[in-house]
Amino acid sequence: MLRAPLLLASRSAAVKRLVASIPVSAGIVRSHVPGESVDDAVAATAELVEKGLQVTLDYLGEDTLDQEQAEATVEAYVALLRRLSEEGLSRRTEVSLKLTAVGLSIEHHGHKIALENARTVCRAARNAGTTVTLDMEDHTTTDSTLAILRDLRKDFPETGAVLQAYLRRTEGDCRALAHEGSRVRLCKGAYAEPEGVAHQERIEIDKSYVRCLKVLLSGAGYPMIATHDPRMIEIASSLASRYGRAQGTYEFQMLYGIRPDEQRRLVAAGETVRAYVPYGTEWYGYLMRRLAERPRNLTFFLRSLISKK
Ligand code: FDA
Repeated sequence: MLRAPLLLASRSAAVKRLVASIPVSAGIVRSHVPGESVDDAVAATAELVEKGLQVTLDYLGEDTLDQEQAEATVEAYVALLRRLSEEGLSRRTEVSLKLTAVGLSIEHHGHKIALENARTVCRAARNAGTTVTLDMEDHTTTDSTLAILRDLRKDFPETGAVLQAYLRRTEGDCRALAHEGSRVRLCKGAYAEPEGVAHQERIEIDKSYVRCLKVLLSGAGYPMIATHDPRMIEIASSLASRYGRAQGTYEFQMLYGIRPDEQRRLVAAGETVRAYVPYGTEWYGYLMRRLAERPRNLTFFLRSLISKK
């Protein structure tokens, strides 16, 4: 019931101004975002790697309409990748990139700007010995994100994509991307989408997730199973055995701070597990989507807003 208003708020400038006044050190923010600086991101990454996890880092930001801001985001990724390489962390750490953070929504030439900016990040990732996965945003960006993926993969075939099981089109997109060398992260989807394009009921989304899992796990690509849902994790594990997939030919992914015990349990069971670690000052939209998924965290959130701690 609270999901829709929270997702609406995730794009409201007025609510953003109020919520962004909570310091990043406040419990509710810190439990989802390790910090604002590269140092914070690197420290969190080193700690996770020490525990046997792999990492994907997201420099927070989205919906940029300003070319300078888009370029600043690219520079932040390039500096991050250099630092990961220097710290010896890039073998176990890749980066996740939102195309609207590097200019996709800029009027007239957004597609071209985002493609060129993403190319720069892919080149920096290649130089650091790692890869990029393109996050997937709301459905109005799906076609352009997949088109940019196709272009990037001509030079950087290791580039990964995200597909969202709530979209009605996604089983077809999974078929198109289930080929050799293709890295696909399957998630349920985090945006408020209209009924015409997306399943609305949890049961329908879960059924679609399982259909997509079947396509990806029986295919020749590298599936990245991004969910905290115990049922989906169990189903994915049994489908992996059914299709004769060895551990390491697919991976599980979860968000930083969510179900850390389960992340460690899967590592102990020999699975490859990657934590998605967001960092930076632009944590507002990300945090609101997490609250929409788990409204029971709203009490902690309101407490942080009142006490600003
Ligand atoms: P869902 O929210 O349906 O919950 C199912 C069950 O999982 C719950 O009943 C509970 O048992 C367990 N659970 C879920 N959250 C929990 C929590 N906080 N604490 C404890 N238990 C919890 N989305 C998108 O649109 N584009 C993208 O690019 C990405 N990228 C991405 C990367 C990674 C690595 C992950 C894990 C997720 C994303 N997402 C995303 C977000 C994704 O679409 C989805 O919104 C969230 O993962 C929540 O869906 P779940 O599958 O986790 O289960």
